[in-house]
Amino acid sequence: MEKRIAVLPGDGIGKEVTNGAIAVLQAVGERFNHQFHFSFGRIGGNAVDTDGTPLPDETIALCKESDAVLLGAVGGPKWDNIAVELRPEQGLLKIRKELELYGNLRPTLYYGSLADASPLRKEIIEDIDILMVRELTGGIYFGTPRERTMRDGEPGALDTLYYSRREIERVIRTAFELASTRRKKVTSVDKANVLETSRLWREVAEEIAKEFPEVTLEHILVDNAAMQIIRNPKQFDVVVTENMFGDILSDEASVITGSLGMQPSASISENGPYLYEPIHGTAPDIAGQNLANPIGAIMSAAMMLRVSFGLTEEADAVEAAVNQVLDSGYRTGDIAFEGCKRVSTTEMIDEIKATIMDTDALLKIQNCYS
Ligand code: IPM
Ligand code: MG
Repeated sequence: MEKRIAVLPGDGIGKEVTNGAIAVLQAVGERFNHQFHFSFGRIGGNAVDTDGTPLPDETIALCKESDAVLLGAVGGPKWDNIAVELRPEQGLLKIRKELELYGNLRPTLYYGSLADASPLRKEIIEDIDILMVRELTGGIYFGTPRERTMRDGEPGALDTLYYSRREIERVIRTAFELASTRRKKVTSVDKANVLETSRLWREVAEEIAKEFPEVTLEHILVDNAAMQIIRNPKQFDVVVTENMFGDILSDEASVITGSLGMQPSASISENGPYLYEPIHGTAPDIAGQNLANPIGAIMSAAMMLRVSFGLTEEADAVEAAVNQVLDSGYRTGDIAFEGCKRVSTTEMIDEIKATIMDTDALLKIQNCYS
């Protein structure tokens, strides 16, 4: 197979972790005979510095002509005080809109050997497998008007929460399609006791549910959802929700298995290309020091192999290699414990790469993870 991958490292640790994803994809290419071609684009603060915009047209064009996009992270204190339209985050929001990435898939992966790093007790999180489906191009993130206002002589501000029926339909249908390949349960999260958009959301969810008689639909209010993710996360299979609720709940869901640094995501569109990124940020405090955990980015590459390229065996191999390396005690600082084999970013990458390349070891691992 031959594929073109656009790589947008972004800021902070973005470059270090995307290097890990590239190294792993190259190892997969060698081991399974595929050719992956990487082209680099700028996004975020570094693009503001060199191009005067957080998302140059060149980067948009590069993404659109690629088969998949791999993103690191954007933002940092250096750009905290610049004009709103130049903020690095605007680059991220704009690429989501340009590529029409309406659905953000955030699995909460359980890593057996990391159970002790969780803030929750092992019996609560053991073997959880949640797939959060977050609407990504609508809602209050994009609604207009958004402005500073003056009402009755009082200065204020206004954001708009808007959803069209079509926007709700497509993301909920995606959630149902995914649930039908999993444990066949969709939990739709809203605030229907207060918001009109949520009442429409609930109505649409009920309608779509009729197309999937084998899947159970449950509705829960977002405040309750925030509590249930901590109280009993195993009750969830696929969780679908609007943009801002999904932003908040996916951070919460990701950290209960140990570290934000470990979790991948895929953003999907109707016509491709899809975009893959770890869900962590730029970690300015450790950027450039070879300390970052590359596993979120590497698992994002595994999602790319599985979702965009349909390379199941290859994706399994990456995931198995990551678990094997963790089981052997290798840890970056964020997940270190006493007695672990403490490694740098590049050492972690090399370990995972070597495990992928080692056919015998891989067969053994695959047997125990399948
Ligand atoms: C995320 C991030 C972004 C978001 C920020 C950086 C704009 O938190 O991808 O979850 O809010 O969507
Ligand atoms: Mg977020």
